[in-house]
Amino acid sequence: MSATVRGGPTVVEVSLGARSYDVVIGRGILASLGARIAALRPGAKSFIVTDANVARCHLAAAETALGDAGVTASHMIVPAGEGSKSFRVLEEVCEAIIASRIERGDLVVALGGGVVGDLAGFAAAVTRRGLDYVQVPTTLLAQVDSSVGGKTAIDTRQGKNLVGAFHQPILVLADTALLDTLPAREFRAGYAEVAKYALLGDAAFFAWLEANWRQVFSGDDSSGNFARERAIAVSCRAKAAIVARDEREAGERALLNLGHTFGHALEAAYGFSNRLLHGEAIAIGMALAFGFSARLELIAEAEAARATRHLAQVGLPTAVKDIRGSAPTVDRLMELIAQDKKIRRGMLTLILVRGIGAAFVESGVDAQKVRAFLSEKLAER
Ligand SMILES: NC(=O)c1ccc[n+]([C@@H]2O[C@H](COP(=O)([O-])OP(=O)(O)OC[C@H]3O[C@@H](n4cnc5c(N)ncnc54)[C@H](O)[C@@H]3O)[C@@H](O)[C@H]2O)c1
Ligand SMILES: [Zn+2]
Repeated sequence: MSATVRGGPTVVEVSLGARSYDVVIGRGILASLGARIAALRPGAKSFIVTDANVARCHLAAAETALGDAGVTASHMIVPAGEGSKSFRVLEEVCEAIIASRIERGDLVVALGGGVVGDLAGFAAAVTRRGLDYVQVPTTLLAQVDSSVGGKTAIDTRQGKNLVGAFHQPILVLADTALLDTLPAREFRAGYAEVAKYALLGDAAFFAWLEANWRQVFSGDDSSGNFARERAIAVSCRAKAAIVARDEREAGERALLNLGHTFGHALEAAYGFSNRLLHGEAIAIGMALAFGFSARLELIAEAEAARATRHLAQVGLPTAVKDIRGSAPTVDRLMELIAQDKKIRRGMLTLILVRGIGAAFVESGVDAQKVRAFLSEKLAER
């Protein structure tokens, strides 16, 4: 890991040629939103998309930041929650953008978590054949994951994120102070993605998280180590590097799916409900990926246990038995994995690990071994 954080904003560049952009991370930097936009697109108007919860906490500050820099802003508030990633709400957002006379050269601002980012980013991708947009992520998950990399989408009746586009933002502004209003459970769920970057590719970052996670959660900077900023910066740098090398997920970007095959199956099994948030499912999924890797003797049991122990230590679930209520059957989980992943000739592609910080794509995993492993885990009560 490396990140020079000294209290000032940290800038991580996502290098994609003419489509390169900065991810700016720091406490209190929302105030600079208007000035940064005016510098990037002089004279551009903006249209803010946000959700009801975020609007209550942060819309006024965002509008002030734009207004102070002379950037005209209109806005639309969508209902909070995954339900807003729908054709119906997309239509409303696109119509509102057009009604506000936003033209090519103007900007959409996504002020919110991953739901708003995915929805507003996709609206920007398709309205007037493509408008620029700025991500102002307000959840930890959005600051370290969904706002970076240009994947945008809505959900359809058949599943999540099935209609979307690659559309990179022109700026990501991650103000870590916005996370102070985020419910603790949402923060913790987002932390699973922070731990993911460490577990998939950065053992030193993992050791640092083991030592500093409390300050990441509290946002307390009194010790001067700016732990939250640093954790977000290191995470964004990891994602930016992978995205720069593999923007369209032809290969390496798949590593970002560590824990996600098992995690998605669990999320789907629980009906994408509040019983299991995405990050919580990913924490269990990563514990399973490490456990399965140990079963295949790719990694020592003690090393897998260390990974799981940290996730449990911060309060994340790490086993199916940690989820309230009845567990899904192994048949159901395997069916969901097959829907997500396609099992070819009994073989499955999974992200496995040779150590903490050493994930790799394994495309010849025997689905029967996965089934046997999962039935054992489901029997744990
Ligand atoms: N595009 C990508 O690469 C990518 C990657 C990962 C996830 N995603 C998507 O992200 C979405 C999940 O994102 P999420 O976890 O941020 O959920 P979210 O956007 O629904 O936010 C979670 C909750 O927190 C509230 N909230 C957000 N910021 C707040 C703040 N600062 N203070 C108080 N409340 C706040 C929201 O209103 C919501 O109720 C999913 O739709 C997922 O598919 C996309
Ligand atoms: Zn995820």
